[in-house]
Amino acid sequence: MDLPKIKILDEKNKILHQKSNEVTFPVSKSDQKLIRDMLTYLEMSQDEEIAQKYNLRAGMGLAYVQLGILKRIFVIAMENDDKSFSEYVIINPKITSASEELIYVGEGEGCLSVNREVVGIVPRHARITIDYYDYEGNKKTMRAREDLAIAFQHEIDHLDGILFPERIDKKNPFKNQDKMREI
Ligand code: NI
Repeated sequence: MDLPKIKILDEKNKILHQKSNEVTFPVSKSDQKLIRDMLTYLEMSQDEEIAQKYNLRAGMGLAYVQLGILKRIFVIAMENDDKSFSEYVIINPKITSASEELIYVGEGEGCLSVNREVVGIVPRHARITIDYYDYEGNKKTMRAREDLAIAFQHEIDHLDGILFPERIDKKNPFKNQDKMREI
């Protein structure tokens, strides 16, 4: 399979710091193609051999704004134990509830738009519920926990122009570490 031609913007690009706009339905054919390409790209990036061949960083989530398009759409490709992928296409999401319990990724969060080492804790809710829309504009609800919940919060931040380093306390990057659970 050929690697989809996708250019991912770096955090220095101002567009990544803008808020994306609500999507109207139905989603166009060209958007459906782009969404498919984004998922393929992520899945290929998680294959070590392919990643090496194309010099890719592994990623599990990608938001439209990272391609320079200010639409509230993101995709996630999460590898299962049997090597298949669970795919999520999320349009116009809203977090409707979030756990009080906070968690963080011990080895640090990563982002295909942040091409540098970032140290510190990104506090995230351990469990969230979101409302979102599918391609046809049907409203859906989904619950997510642990790493999937973190991925959703990371991507929803993208739609609001927020990159994960901005969630780290500047003065004390490990602030309140003892009050959160590491995953
Ligand atoms: Ni990201």
